[in-house]
Amino acid sequence: MTVDESALGRGDELRFLRTWLLAPLTTGAQMPSGRRLARAMAAAVDPEVPGWVIELGPGTGPVTRALIERGVAPERLLLVEANAEFCRLLRERCPGARVLHADAFAAMRRLRREGLPVSAVVSSLPLMTLAPRRRLRLLHDCLRLMGPGGRFVQFTYAFRSPLPLRATGIRAAAAPRVWWNLWPAKVWTYQRADGPGSTYSSTAK
Ligand SMILES: C[S@@+](CC[C@H](N)C(=O)[O-])C[C@H]1O[C@@H](n2cnc3c(N)ncnc32)[C@H](O)[C@@H]1O
Repeated sequence: MTVDESALGRGDELRFLRTWLLAPLTTGAQMPSGRRLARAMAAAVDPEVPGWVIELGPGTGPVTRALIERGVAPERLLLVEANAEFCRLLRERCPGARVLHADAFAAMRRLRREGLPVSAVVSSLPLMTLAPRRRLRLLHDCLRLMGPGGRFVQFTYAFRSPLPLRATGIRAAAAPRVWWNLWPAKVWTYQRADGPGSTYSSTAK
């Protein structure tokens, strides 16, 4: 089962722009992520590691599609999206995935209590508009949900880490900036420092 590719396109850009005009802080971008950025996000996930892959803020689904192309079966995907229209689209386009119309912060706390086996959390949430403490709490909730090798993946348009690096016990690594995207963005991966090695050779500054 795959994402319906014909459905992804110009209509998504207009839909995204309209959503951004109505709620700029929550939508976080004027356009969906481009192919290169979506692939860079998916590249940080190892499809061979068993367990659910949770996507936070999937929007219209470009990263979802890249994850499926990378080899993550749709049945292993849990998509948590706050926008009802995006949820409806995701259900149409990716019928195998579980789509949760919810606030990602509350959902992660709830899932922690459920003890779901999770290998990676891939987030496109607009974290930079939130207080550093809130961002860090989300990261800790996600890392606690996963085993020692679990990865939290986040992109940002900013030049620094979207999560405070003073945090103890967390290792961060950044992939090279994706310039061919509106706007150019960088993918960061966060892991427990006591977990296995990171994907990227360049480390956080
Ligand atoms: C920057 S867009 C990224 C969308 C998509 N992943 C992409 O790359 O094009 C952020 C997405 O996060 C969603 N979002 C923002 N805050 C959220 C929250 N607290 N819980 C769940 N989704 C949220 C927005 O509705 C939007 O779809």
